[in-house]
Amino acid sequence: MPETRSLLLLPGDGIGPEVMAEVRRVIDWLGRRRGLDFVIGDGLVGGAAIDAHGEPLTDATMKQALAADAVLLGAVGGPKWDDLPFERKPERGLLRLRKEMALFANLRPAMVFPALVGASTLKPEVVAGLDILIVRELTGGVYFGEPKGIETLPDGSRRGVNTQVYTTEEIRRVARVAFELAGRRRGQVCSVDKANVMESGVLWREEVQRLRDQAFPEVNLTHMYADNCAMQLVRNPSQFDVIVTDNLFGDILSDEAAMLTGSLGMLPSASLGAVDPSSGRRRALYEPVHGSAPDIAGKGLANPLAMLLSFAMCLRYSFALTAEADLLEVAVASVLDGGLRTADIMEEGKARVSTRVMGEAVTAALAKLT
Ligand code: IPM
Ligand code: MG
Repeated sequence: MPETRSLLLLPGDGIGPEVMAEVRRVIDWLGRRRGLDFVIGDGLVGGAAIDAHGEPLTDATMKQALAADAVLLGAVGGPKWDDLPFERKPERGLLRLRKEMALFANLRPAMVFPALVGASTLKPEVVAGLDILIVRELTGGVYFGEPKGIETLPDGSRRGVNTQVYTTEEIRRVARVAFELAGRRRGQVCSVDKANVMESGVLWREEVQRLRDQAFPEVNLTHMYADNCAMQLVRNPSQFDVIVTDNLFGDILSDEAAMLTGSLGMLPSASLGAVDPSSGRRRALYEPVHGSAPDIAGKGLANPLAMLLSFAMCLRYSFALTAEADLLEVAVASVLDGGLRTADIMEEGKARVSTRVMGEAVTAALAKLT
């Protein structure tokens, strides 16, 4: 019996549906030309789900996500929903998926494609060949810590609270992912915290070091304060191989690292849960790092490459389809080498194309490469 692979597509808001359409094109191609079948489901998340159902993620969609081998998500949010109460904002849909699927490890590669060296705001010699992997803790820390909330004090003024909290196990499981990935790369991990100010940072540092000493002696582990890391990323980004850090620092540093590469529109991400010992599978969600970009939504201007590269990560991590993942990544690089550019990465002398033409070019490149 052929293996069944189930995918849940959640295009979401803004440019999400446009870039997801280009993934479908690649999925169709894989079916037709490589005999790889995927069972595709789709659903609503974020503002799209609020408009249809009054909440950013329904229980039914949550159930579908838990049952799928992998979830592909476009983007959530937009000005239309900005004034909603906090608990009902589009972003809550994404956070619920992460939490209930227990996707504790968020992998955010930041690499510079040779064809795009000139698109970075940093000097070409600083970013050429850049290849960093940020491993961000995704289900803990100040994003979810209790207590949290806004309360009114007796004198009528208000107090807002969030809690930064980590346990040994939360730190070790994400550090383990970082060490394992470093083993397949250049063997270096930089762990980022604020151990000079925060107790949770002291614990973070101690536990990461302890795990390295116990189980990963071959990995070269260094520690850095988050503010210094932000500075080093623009000063000399090539010093980094894998960066492992908490949820909030990871959110910030991954945007910074993304911008080093010239375009947020290029960067994929994977969010992974624990490996199930009986099935060997792990829950996973793949999404581009860019947001919903409401200002350009529906105009055919969006860059679909981050979404396509997220699908490549899905092929690699959820389905062990290494050859197909490599193929898709090479196809993307070859389209860039050929001079096609969406608006966000446009440079003089290149050909500016729409979302759809870019997607078609990637499929054409796939055909040519095989
Ligand atoms: C990200 C985003 C999200 C986050 C938002 C949309 C909730 O910025 O994935 O980096 O803060 O984690
Ligand atoms: Mg972010």
